[in-house]
Amino acid sequence: MATRKMILDLDTGIDDAMAIAYAVAAPDVDLIGIVSSYGNVLTPLSAQNSLKILELLGQQDVPVFLGESHSSTTTQFEVMPISAQIHGKNGIGEVSLPTAKRQPETKSGVDFLIESAHTYGKDLIVVPTGPLTNLAKALKQAPEIQNEIGNVTLMGGALTVPGNVSPVAEANINQDPTAADQVFESNLNITMVGLDVTLRTLLTKNETAQWRKLNTVAGEKFADIVDYYIDVYKITSPHLHGCALHDPLAVGVALDPSLVSTLDINMFVDTTKEMRGRTIGDPARLTDQHPNVSVALTVNQDTYLKRFMTYLSELFSQN
Ligand code: BDR
Ligand code: CA
Repeated sequence: MATRKMILDLDTGIDDAMAIAYAVAAPDVDLIGIVSSYGNVLTPLSAQNSLKILELLGQQDVPVFLGESHSSTTTQFEVMPISAQIHGKNGIGEVSLPTAKRQPETKSGVDFLIESAHTYGKDLIVVPTGPLTNLAKALKQAPEIQNEIGNVTLMGGALTVPGNVSPVAEANINQDPTAADQVFESNLNITMVGLDVTLRTLLTKNETAQWRKLNTVAGEKFADIVDYYIDVYKITSPHLHGCALHDPLAVGVALDPSLVSTLDINMFVDTTKEMRGRTIGDPARLTDQHPNVSVALTVNQDTYLKRFMTYLSELFSQN
């Protein structure tokens, strides 16, 4: 049993699936649960995908919870065509995995977040790699958790580079800018792993070929899933020559912040028309001496990629 406990809050999703693998494989943390969100797919499918990926990785004990099914300011959610293109309609690159033996828990994801904050306090790391709707709801229901949770390392936002769904907005923040702003303006200790660093941390078919060579089900399925994502990146972002490791990088940074250099600053999320979803320094709190957000600006890609491949290859070789 490790001291550090991690909760993933995912819209699973191909890179979310790699985030699960990284969290399972990392030696110095216990993955205590996965909260499901909408985004790349609808929430129930996100939960099923997480359950299937856990099963593929031989993890039958990690509970999966259902989170909110739409943003805090809407009544329903539809998957954006670009998300379906990038992740496939089933969220895992149209790769077929056996129906999961388990079902999501009956407790809500929001209640699980609150109870875990009370139980584990500073040892708890929350890694949201989808919209921030669940975390914002948990904060609203139990504001004390903002002073209990050790750290929230989120994949989302863009400070020094343009957005990926609008000139200013990154996809996860764009799904629910109001919730994201509530999270950024809370007392939570936050690390923002945004497009500034995730677009510099890339995987190619050279790496997925290594998984394929392991001759295991997990190695082959993950190679199929991620190759789909790499093929889409060739169309949507040909200049990158690989796919971005958005979500697994957030898990890596959560466990080892030395992988990135950061700017400590109070942030807010713009919710007004043209700037909707922009993550930027909060003009009202610029002089505050104790900023609560560390924004990742540069990343040691080589160290990260080596670690990513060591962890995942070892895990896939056993499954
Ligand atoms: C983020 O959006 C989602 O599509 C990905 O899974 C990632 O979390 C990248 O902007
Ligand atoms: Ca995601």
